[in-house]
Amino acid sequence: MSSLGLNPRSFAPGPLRGTIRVPGDKSISHRALLLGAAAPQALAITNLNPGRDVRATMEALIALGAHVDGSGDALSVHATRLREPMGALDCMNSGSTARMVLGVCAGADIRADFDGDDSLRRRPMEPVASQLRAFGAKIATTDGKLPLHIDGTPQIETRRFILLTPSAQIKSALLLAGLYAKTPIDISGDRGSRDHTERMLKYLGADVAWDGSTITLRSGLRNANPVTVCGDFSAAAFFIVAATVAPGSDLTVEGVGVNPTRTGLLDALSQMGAHVELRNPREVAGEPVADLHVRHAQLRGITIGPDVALRAIDEIPVLAVAAAFAEGETRITGVRELRTKESDRVAAIERLLNAVAIGVETSPNGLVIAGAQPRGTGAIIDTSDDHRIAMAAATLAAGAGPLQIDSDASIDVSFPAFLETLGSVQRA
Ligand code: S3P
Repeated sequence: MSSLGLNPRSFAPGPLRGTIRVPGDKSISHRALLLGAAAPQALAITNLNPGRDVRATMEALIALGAHVDGSGDALSVHATRLREPMGALDCMNSGSTARMVLGVCAGADIRADFDGDDSLRRRPMEPVASQLRAFGAKIATTDGKLPLHIDGTPQIETRRFILLTPSAQIKSALLLAGLYAKTPIDISGDRGSRDHTERMLKYLGADVAWDGSTITLRSGLRNANPVTVCGDFSAAAFFIVAATVAPGSDLTVEGVGVNPTRTGLLDALSQMGAHVELRNPREVAGEPVADLHVRHAQLRGITIGPDVALRAIDEIPVLAVAAAFAEGETRITGVRELRTKESDRVAAIERLLNAVAIGVETSPNGLVIAGAQPRGTGAIIDTSDDHRIAMAAATLAAGAGPLQIDSDASIDVSFPAFLETLGSVQRA
């Protein structure tokens, strides 16, 4: 986004007390739309994530000939046959859209051009492109990035894949390619990345099996059971950490997805001494859901290895904020991918914590955070137009004292009501 979109914002300290809900899960929302367009009848979706990223997926599907009826967070999606789009598909800021819609086009034998904003144009597309080329698609990137052109495949070359990057987006692109091409797919080499695609395939009647390292998809969708999207754990994460680090907090976040492939943050926080309780566990559209009750706690530094880091990949910025308040050092490894998210998040975490005088040592694959008593000074944080860095700054301020961000414009990528939600539970 250009500097024309700048919208500075200040955050204050104070406990979080009360009960909130967070928006529908972003990852699951993309998948509900993308699988909905392959379902035998129209798929009704409620609590769809209202952010810009999911809108990018919806608009891409509409450009590909899908019908989306309804508005807001309740709608239905249906497609009989996808067709070549009129212009380039604009994936905006959304890596999930670019990578997963590419899988759809590969399998549905579609020719299309893909593009995105400046941040997305800097992110790697070669890892997904090379695996879809093995499937049979022809993909020409711009130095491994967007803009790119795809000629989907009428003829499948490979049906058995080894996942070369531990990426749920790439795994899902391959599953979508198989689904849309109506061909079985075998994938091995997963390392426990989020399994929302597998779960939704099963929920919609596909013959699919997975065990954390291999996935087999044998047949397509058989039903269009309505999908209610659970609350986004990655959105709840800011509130979980803010309530943990702000003395006097007592907060409940209702209806949050607690799929174990996403909740590495809870495992790390529990080891650090946090008070987070899962209440009222239940299942919603094939996903585990609970209400999370959080109270303030004094934390201690720990070592977080690659397995937990993978299950907390989008929560590392906010986990680093928690580590800033811990007694002792926190070491995090296995976060190489963070360098190529919406921004270089390792560098962004270092800037954020340095602004409150917390020392951070970085390496290509990790971070060491020297916990202390962070003190907000009103400094202006450079968010690099990254939604998770902007919300991590608000979380830090809740416990440390005043901070500002250069712009809040990025927040509506995933959580347009973040500021209102924070305002509704934060006491001065
Ligand atoms: C996502 C997977 C993760 C995550 C991203 C969303 C998904 O990325 O960081 O925000 O919905 O599959 P990778 O699959 O690239 O690790």
